[in-house]
Amino acid sequence: MIKNTEFVTRRARLLAQMDNNSVAIIPAAVELTRSRDTEFPFRQDSDFFYLSGFNEPDAVLVLNKDAAGNGTTTLFCRNKDKLAEVWHGRRLGHEQAKTQLQIDDTYPLSELDHQLAILVNGHKVLYYGQGTYASFDDKVWQLLSTLRGAPKKGYRAPEIIKDVRLLIHEMRLFKSADEIAVMRLAGKISAEAHIRAMQFAKPGATEYQLEAELHHHYAMNGARHPAYGTIVGSGINATILHYTENSDELKAGDLVLIDSGCELEGYAADITRTFPVNGKFSEPQKAIYNLVLEAQHAAFAEVKPGGTLQQANQAAMRVLTQGLINLGILAGELEELLEAQACKAFYMHGLGHWLGLDVHDVGEYKLDEADRPFAPGMVLTIEPGLYFDEDAAVPEQYKGIGVRIEDDLLITESGFENLTESVPKTIAEIEALMSNK
Ligand code: GLY
Ligand code: MN
Ligand code: MN
Repeated sequence: MIKNTEFVTRRARLLAQMDNNSVAIIPAAVELTRSRDTEFPFRQDSDFFYLSGFNEPDAVLVLNKDAAGNGTTTLFCRNKDKLAEVWHGRRLGHEQAKTQLQIDDTYPLSELDHQLAILVNGHKVLYYGQGTYASFDDKVWQLLSTLRGAPKKGYRAPEIIKDVRLLIHEMRLFKSADEIAVMRLAGKISAEAHIRAMQFAKPGATEYQLEAELHHHYAMNGARHPAYGTIVGSGINATILHYTENSDELKAGDLVLIDSGCELEGYAADITRTFPVNGKFSEPQKAIYNLVLEAQHAAFAEVKPGGTLQQANQAAMRVLTQGLINLGILAGELEELLEAQACKAFYMHGLGHWLGLDVHDVGEYKLDEADRPFAPGMVLTIEPGLYFDEDAAVPEQYKGIGVRIEDDLLITESGFENLTESVPKTIAEIEALMSNK
């Protein structure tokens, strides 16, 4: 559980990095229509949530820093409204928000336009992340034009607009002890769900039933939603990287690839495992599976402070390329094939990504054009794969095989902690689990 004091500290840290005489505006997410008059489950904007811990739509957080460097926080949130709350659910209201969220000033949303003009007027710099919410962008541009248009009234618009996301995303890249505790638990719940799906799998079951097993386990453990669309791809479907139809029946002799993780208190887990529907790998499946697993281990060896995602990817690609030569899938010299990135024909995606409030989390991958070194507190996925669809130029026995193996790693002082290691991964472990339902 992220404590309220942590949200207070985050706002203070953001304020400390802002220029004197500046103002930052961070809007909440809006509700989105799913059909006619029903909405998709509401998901808060990750940056807004990171700074506020407040889970209602339409709110706006404003941070002010005066010329002397003193900071003030202001929150606008939906008005209390008995009728609306009877129909659609409780609202915190601005009075309670002030004490509960420890915000300096809070206002009902109905006062936004008026108060925002006062809060922005006269500051030199505006921090704002444009391009996410079009209607809120319009509001901000309208406000700037109002301030620019009336100098005789004493209005002055900020001269400089900076992207507030650059500051927030750098903070989000490094996880605190409490964030790590939540991500550890998200990893554990997701790992248990994968084990459950493996145990449920059998010929005649369906991809959507495996999805249901996973989602049931998430919800039963307090994680009501998956962090992204669950992928359950059996047979040739495993070669479609973001397959989410999940509609086919599982067939004996096929592999099934599951890429799924829960979202817990806003934080994502992201696990992929690939296993045989009938519990036994065939020889060609074993060869490809072990190659991907070996590539993951080679990448793991580079995951430590000072290492880079690029180095880890090169290590993985070296293993994959040599393995594909050994299997007769690639022909040529290892160094030349590496130079030509020949394995990319069958490994089309990146090795991994930052993980946090967003599954493909924020944070720069390069610093001053150079690959960014890992440092303690970062969390990332390592997820090599090989995919041979029906048109792949490979020996017949490999067609229709898609394998990805994905874990979530926390960078520590000495290396990494694998947050998702409890899902079986070797062929022996998977076959043992599936034979022992
Ligand atoms: N689940 C999306 C990914 O692995 O990146
Ligand atoms: Mn994934
Ligand atoms: Mn991933």
